[in-house]
Amino acid sequence: MTEGLSWVPSTIDTGLPSAARIYDYLLGGGHNFAADRELAEKFLLAQPNARTIARLNRAFLRRAVLHLADAGVRQFLDLGSGIPTVGNVHEIAQRAAPESRVVYVDFEDVAVAHSRMLLEDDDQSTVLQEDMTDTDAVLAGVRDTGLIDFAEPIGVLTVGVFHFVPPERDPVGVVAAYRDAVAPGSYLALSQFTADLQPEEMTGVVAVMRRSANPMFPRTHAEITAMFDGFDLVEPGVVPLPLWRPEDGAVEEDADRAGIFAGVGRKK
Ligand SMILES: C[S@@+](CC[C@H](N)C(=O)[O-])C[C@H]1O[C@@H](n2cnc3c(N)ncnc32)[C@H](O)[C@@H]1O
Repeated sequence: MTEGLSWVPSTIDTGLPSAARIYDYLLGGGHNFAADRELAEKFLLAQPNARTIARLNRAFLRRAVLHLADAGVRQFLDLGSGIPTVGNVHEIAQRAAPESRVVYVDFEDVAVAHSRMLLEDDDQSTVLQEDMTDTDAVLAGVRDTGLIDFAEPIGVLTVGVFHFVPPERDPVGVVAAYRDAVAPGSYLALSQFTADLQPEEMTGVVAVMRRSANPMFPRTHAEITAMFDGFDLVEPGVVPLPLWRPEDGAVEEDADRAGIFAGVGRKK
């Protein structure tokens, strides 16, 4: 049924649900398959707030990009960028500052194929298909694009992605590799699931996602804060997602029900 659809790479296993396509489904997108939708419904049983969480995560991404743009950042590296949806980083950043450049990185076939299509006519943005934990390969690929000047501040975005990185891939070491590669004054924006806020729901979600291509690894507030080593945390620090600089200071949701911590740091 997928034959001929330009966003479906021929090599893809449509029977194995992926985080990118489950997230797309939760956001109301159409780039997902029956197996993704089935597991997403199980995700919703374990975490009934999942659609709101997905929307809140996108809203954090937007606020973080605008904060960085306001601070003068004009180049972005979006790791685990996902399937394009409303409010993509290049759209937000270029609306704030037209000269902004963006390199997207994801390892999922549909995310990359769809991003390629979207960015066809944008010579300031591109996408790389890489595992973001292969930091040498990613950094070499980014350099090859010629879009990013490593002597200038870079906004490194890792939004809703580190909970897919298992402990044995050394998440703190992965962040450190990017931190060491970028200029002082660069930023790290990060959001990641935790079991600190809604332990029961998180246990259910972890069990569901074991049946996908992307098992999940929630982390504690202390573990997430440790990922900002070498960065000065921007106020208000690492907080439940909706509490990170809410627009107009208004938090419409019960912040703990987001189940995610978020923060932004500036490299010293
Ligand atoms: C929940 S989506 C988040 C998308 C986007 N960053 C956002 O916040 O809206 C997570 C994305 O990270 C990608 N991902 C997970 N682990 C990855 C890895 N090791 N390397 C590259 N991409 C990864 C998945 O394929 C998926 O597209």
